[in-house]
Amino acid sequence: MQKSALSVYEIRQDFPILKRKVGNNKALVYLDNAATTQKPFSVINAIHDYYSNYNANIHRAVHQLGEEATFAYEQTREKVAKFINASSTEEIIFTRNATEAINLVSYSWGRNNVKDGQSIVITEMEHHSNIVPWQILSREKNAKLCYIGVDDRGYLRMDEYKSFLDTSNVGLISLSEMSNVLGTILPLNEIINLAHRDGVPVLVDAAQSVPHMPVDVQKTDCDFLAFSAHKMLGPTGVGILYVKRKILEEMPPFIGGGDMIKEVHKQNTVYNDLPYRFEGGTPNIAGVIGFGAALDYLNSIGMDRVRDHEIDITKYAMTALADIKDVTLYGPLDANDRGGVISFNIADIHPHDLATIMNESGVAIRSGHHCAQVLMERLDVPATSRASFYIYNTKEEVDIFIDALHNARRIFKV
Ligand code: ALA
Repeated sequence: MQKSALSVYEIRQDFPILKRKVGNNKALVYLDNAATTQKPFSVINAIHDYYSNYNANIHRAVHQLGEEATFAYEQTREKVAKFINASSTEEIIFTRNATEAINLVSYSWGRNNVKDGQSIVITEMEHHSNIVPWQILSREKNAKLCYIGVDDRGYLRMDEYKSFLDTSNVGLISLSEMSNVLGTILPLNEIINLAHRDGVPVLVDAAQSVPHMPVDVQKTDCDFLAFSAHKMLGPTGVGILYVKRKILEEMPPFIGGGDMIKEVHKQNTVYNDLPYRFEGGTPNIAGVIGFGAALDYLNSIGMDRVRDHEIDITKYAMTALADIKDVTLYGPLDANDRGGVISFNIADIHPHDLATIMNESGVAIRSGHHCAQVLMERLDVPATSRASFYIYNTKEEVDIFIDALHNARRIFKV
């Protein structure tokens, strides 16, 4: 059966911010979705409703407001488990963001499992949040941090990956399913199959993939998966960590304090059940409830259709960009191999200058190293410009973006 395309113009009505004027009193063209997405009314209203009608702490009180808040918070956990097809809600931990989720794994699992002399294998296209925690751990454990290279077309060097598995004692593989700079989507099934053949666990940084395509943790069989609510219509301050139950059962707590305990005595503590053992302190209750509304919104569209829309708009934008003189595009040229993230440079215009001029036309793009300085070194550039799309972006907006780039070329006389 043919899937129908997204009703982008209807979707846009659900996002109040898209009516804003910015820059030189121009309609906002928001192309910085890889950094954070905009929020629909339903998410904003869910947060407003919580604070207006049933604000209370969770898992503690037996009064009505406490029960309502706990129910709504736990309902989001069920929605998350279903969204990524986890086998139970006990495998879903709420954190502050994807960065904290990766740090939780590195502190709790890593400290207890990575051994002196082992290798932790990541890639050259990782976000800093999937580099720095492993640098800290490898120093502490005297492990080696190894990088799988990226080829000149923006694909992962699978030959190097296989060679790491064959020649070193690998303790963990941690990689991003979709690069936030190149857009490259990794062949996760193959990567995880090869790792598991050698008994090596795999952490997937899914901050850029879960918001943009169907993800199924049981199908890929990943061991850990981290992502953030704010990159998929939800509020900031909510991250999600999935851990396979049999691994989670063996992991010691990360943050000690309230709610992660059953009993506390002078010298010892009995920890709470899974997953609460990993959620010390009052969490971002309003944010988690808002995230539930974001998941409902994405489910009502369907992640297959989200992905199809992004392939379509990315192809359209890449074709138009390639026609601009002196443009360098980074990452795979085939839109089927990448997400809706396009990094580029034009002649020697500095990306920050370009982004400033684009803002005058109402176009919001990101410029800089995108928290991926190891990749910038590999590409031999200090920075790039980046346009990134989501469900509410139209081809007309891509046209405005391209016109604004032509205008910038005239201003910079390149
Ligand atoms: N990780 C976010 C980005 O790529 C902040 O922009």
